[in-house]
Amino acid sequence: MSSFEIESLLHENRRFAPPAGFGEGAWIKSLEHYRELCARAEADPEGFWADLARSELHWFTPWQQVLDWQEPTARWFVGGKLNLAYNCLDRHLQTRGDKVAVLWEGEPGEVRALTYRELHAEVCRFANALKALGVGKGDVVAIYMPLVPEAAVAMLGCARIGAPHTVVFGGFSGDALRDRLIDAQARVVVTADGGWRKGAIVPLKPRVDEAVAQAPGVAHVICLKRVGQEVAMEPGRDHWWHELVASRSAECPAEAMDSEDLLFILYTSGTTGKPKGVVHTTGGYNLYTHITSKWIFDLHDEDVYWCTADVGWITGHSYVVYGPLSNGATTFMFEGAPNQPDPGRFWQLIEKHRIGIFYTAPTAIRTFIKWGDDWPARYDLSSLRLLGTVGEPINPEAWMWYHRVIGQERCPIVDTWWQTETGGIMITPLPGATITKPGSATMPFPGIVADVVDREGNSCPPNQGGYLVIRRPWPSMLRTVYRDPERYRQNYWSQVPHAYFAGDGARRDEEGYFWVMGRVDDVINVSGHRLGTMEIESALVSHPAVAEAAVVGRPDEIKGEAIVAFVTVESEVETTPQLLEELRAHVVKEIGALARPEEIRYAEALPKTRSGKIMRRLLRSLASGSDLTGDTSTLEDRSVLEKLREG
Ligand code: WT7
Repeated sequence: MSSFEIESLLHENRRFAPPAGFGEGAWIKSLEHYRELCARAEADPEGFWADLARSELHWFTPWQQVLDWQEPTARWFVGGKLNLAYNCLDRHLQTRGDKVAVLWEGEPGEVRALTYRELHAEVCRFANALKALGVGKGDVVAIYMPLVPEAAVAMLGCARIGAPHTVVFGGFSGDALRDRLIDAQARVVVTADGGWRKGAIVPLKPRVDEAVAQAPGVAHVICLKRVGQEVAMEPGRDHWWHELVASRSAECPAEAMDSEDLLFILYTSGTTGKPKGVVHTTGGYNLYTHITSKWIFDLHDEDVYWCTADVGWITGHSYVVYGPLSNGATTFMFEGAPNQPDPGRFWQLIEKHRIGIFYTAPTAIRTFIKWGDDWPARYDLSSLRLLGTVGEPINPEAWMWYHRVIGQERCPIVDTWWQTETGGIMITPLPGATITKPGSATMPFPGIVADVVDREGNSCPPNQGGYLVIRRPWPSMLRTVYRDPERYRQNYWSQVPHAYFAGDGARRDEEGYFWVMGRVDDVINVSGHRLGTMEIESALVSHPAVAEAAVVGRPDEIKGEAIVAFVTVESEVETTPQLLEELRAHVVKEIGALARPEEIRYAEALPKTRSGKIMRRLLRSLASGSDLTGDTSTLEDRSVLEKLREG
């Protein structure tokens, strides 16, 4: 494991107590309160989760067993029956029927507000439309949409009838969509004619057409008219959303789902190329996203809450849609880019919609810093009372800017560590209780047993870097990798004995605060999104001119990491600058714009070990322009390195 930033972080001594009075109105009132909850969970973990599951959720049928744990397989609330959409909608109708559930603004500026009653009706109509297409319990539905209310309607509609969804980020290419459709064996794709991004139309439907042509399992495509773009509609296969739902009933019974029924599959990058289908199930996921939303974002009925994530990421699943709605909150969604029409857009939205809770990513914060303090200064941000970040370690200086300029030194910041696989937030401050330190995600959520260990699983002494693990199963942990249980076991439960291996490096300080240092494997975190180097390499190599490719991350002020690729070309190919541009475009076509290499360099050969493994460590140093230190003795051919340095 490399040493990451241990040195610089060690000098971070600033501390911020919860603002005076915050704890009084908060769900978790004080450090003592937090400690009590932890002690209760420690003494009786199953009782702790069972009490919450009883008091916070509606169940059609109670469970017989809280947890059935046969490492690495967990089953939570065994035998219990519930429905996530019911918990997000129906149970609020009595008390919150006229409260806004989803508040939305499109990039061009139109606003929509759906009350709980209206959202319930929309979801039922859509669920009935799915049923009319023959979709039932267990049939996988892919959702490839812009960030519009219908994306949430589609997710909830699937959950209502027990059809697992797999949401594919609308920024991904047709090829990436195709691979996911095939792996997930999707029967239906829900999409739109397009979405708005930076003033331009994102052509979603044409990419669906490309993808579906190669994914024969897809029988139906449902297309929402969002931008009014002309699109091809294949008779029999393609249906307009508005036509399909028009005649449907606004009542659709919520299917009583088994607690362990598949809720959704969400693909995330792995180290070995093929994206992993992370599997989440119903009961544990509902409980954990509900209770973390409530306690960490301190949701109260009068709050307007905004998490800036797209529903294509786990953050969008857990903290745009399911967690907030399960709590009966008002969740705000914004379709567009933060600088459309100008870099003040987010702050204007906060002022206009009186946003109280704002949750975004360090990469966005660094971009805002670059755009300058003048933009937020033009708007009234006094509605804000709580800020959050997620996606990667936040540099202390970015944390301080967020605290000072956006939070106006009044709002607690929750730096939340978690993963697609964990389903919900694992290490985090509780805003009325925790003393925060800039750059630290602080301490585990009650009931979460996190540790920093060596390979053998021994806890590391304070301030020594090691592997971040979770020692006990928690309700929203991934259940498996879709159709690949061996990969699940291998990736998460075999690296360190009897612990969930997160794949992150971390240290814990003398007060027990966690400082996450980044991935220990070959995954690049670009703007808070994990991209597998292998996937990008495969994309490069799929171009006829490329013989071999190696991709590494280079620290980047804005994006966290930027992608640098080294390629060797086929013998007769000319190494022109035009080809480099072509290769960058090729990666975008294969994977999506997020994976566009910042830089591609030609290499005569790649540095490899004798066993043929590319020595990424050396390439990383080269890419970031730092000195080549450390061991190069395993290098097969030392002249390769010299040439790379010159090139
Ligand atoms: C990886 C998970 C979970 C939603 C967003 C990304 C990094 C995430 C933090 C944080 C330090 C963080 C980790 C993690 N990460 N949050 N607060 N501090 N690192 O989900 O794509 O599954 O990525 O993001 O490296 O393993 P994801």
